[in-house]
Amino acid sequence: MVFTVGGIKGGSGKTTIATNLTVWLVNQGYDVLLVDADEQSTSTKFTRWRERNTDGNSGYTATTLLGDAVRQQVIKFKPKFDHIVIDTGGRDTSSQRAALFVSDALLAPFNPRSFDLWTIADIENLVKEVRSLKSDELHAFSILNRADPKGSDNRDSADLLTESTLIEYIGPAIVSRKSFANAASVGQGVIEWQPYDQKAISEINLVFSTIMNKLNVGINV
Ligand SMILES: Nc1ncnc2c1ncn2[C@@H]1O[C@H](COP(=O)(O)OP(=O)(O)O)[C@@H](O)[C@H]1O
Ligand SMILES: [Mg+2]
Repeated sequence: MVFTVGGIKGGSGKTTIATNLTVWLVNQGYDVLLVDADEQSTSTKFTRWRERNTDGNSGYTATTLLGDAVRQQVIKFKPKFDHIVIDTGGRDTSSQRAALFVSDALLAPFNPRSFDLWTIADIENLVKEVRSLKSDELHAFSILNRADPKGSDNRDSADLLTESTLIEYIGPAIVSRKSFANAASVGQGVIEWQPYDQKAISEINLVFSTIMNKLNVGINV
């Protein structure tokens, strides 16, 4: 599968989701390529930390691609890996569009704040456009990230995302937790960071396993 983690807004957690998804798929035994398609190269920095802290045994392959090269190169890489995860930037829609053309699924994280949620219409338009030009299917999923610890506060945001007929909302909300930032600072996914943050791990496991089930990707959680 080729996954694009995208969206229009910066800071919604695209890199956090992309790097955690990569580590999660590696933990499932898959051979994964992480593509950094963001000029800010945050996931490349993540990989650099990871390589340093694991003596080069990060467990996956990473590369940087921008613009139309995303499409051209991902087509070539596709048969060589089980899964490809593309981390995109918030503003550069040309890289994101190129990524979506060669993707099986879009994962779009949203923060439960109105400014963020308003961008869903723009993402719907992007999905609609790519679907109309693409012969194979493009699944699209929305996720709530950096959510409030109290579940009731996230319900309105989740309801709003659920209303989309083009992008399917996948719960539970991923709550804002220090373990995500702590793990990322040493190049780890939250499933690896110790002491284990069981709540964060459980949310990530539920969200990713639900998406994999919908895509018929074999997993063992
Ligand atoms: N669930 C979360 N809990 C706590 N911090 C988070 C969470 N998700 C993201 N962050 C933090 O928010 C910031 C922006 O996240 P990032 O993944 O870089 O967003 P984007 O790639 O969309 O710009 C980072 O500092 C990251 O560590
Ligand atoms: Mg990013």
